[in-house]
Amino acid sequence: MIFGPGIEDYIRSLVPEPDDVLAEMQAHAERDDIPIVYPETGRLLEVLIAMTAARAAVEVGTAIGVSTLHIARALAAGGTVVSFEVDPGRHEAARAYLGRAGVGDRVDLRLKDGTEGLAELEGPVDFVFLDAAKGDYPGQLALALSLLRPGGAVAIDNVLLSGAVTAGRPRTHWSEEDVLTMRAFNADLVADGRVTATVLSVGDGVAVAVRR
Ligand SMILES: C[S@@+](CC[C@H](N)C(=O)[O-])C[C@H]1O[C@@H](n2cnc3c(N)ncnc32)[C@H](O)[C@@H]1O
Repeated sequence: MIFGPGIEDYIRSLVPEPDDVLAEMQAHAERDDIPIVYPETGRLLEVLIAMTAARAAVEVGTAIGVSTLHIARALAAGGTVVSFEVDPGRHEAARAYLGRAGVGDRVDLRLKDGTEGLAELEGPVDFVFLDAAKGDYPGQLALALSLLRPGGAVAIDNVLLSGAVTAGRPRTHWSEEDVLTMRAFNADLVADGRVTATVLSVGDGVAVAVRR
């Protein structure tokens, strides 16, 4: 049993210090209570992008651009991440931050519903990150799988719901229905013959699936 107290802090301590713009974005998110990826999840995204040598990436749920920055920085030369967000204020904040972070030419930020956006995209793409409304995951995953090239990967955040997916854990702000829905989502993903998939206990839980 290694998931005792301290392990999460230890893994986080291994993540390189953020540069000035990323630190400012993280402080903004903390101040305004905007949910963003944990630092170790950001690092995992960079690793997955590197593993898939991704040039064409897609994200649903830009918020103010923290995960977008991790993805953009890890893309292969000439790569682009298309990122969908429905909140105009967050979308504009992301545009400003990502420009200042020097990745403005690697990001294509779209103020648009992610499900609609995914349906309109043409593949193949190398990498997809889903991090918007959790109830939309099944539909968005289906669209992502239709876009991914063989060997491409999709990562989905918050699939352990702050631990609420396990029996006997406090539900925090997640409802019983959220828990049942997420359990079914994880089980269906891992059993899906179109992918090789697993759930990682990184950050708030990240499911990773590689397209066959
Ligand atoms: C958890 S936050 C994203 C955090 C971001 N990925 C990061 O780690 O920096 C989820 C975001 O998804 C946005 N969102 C919710 N539903 C959406 C949808 N259908 N399409 C696009 N964005 C959506 C919310 O406005 C919110 O900013």
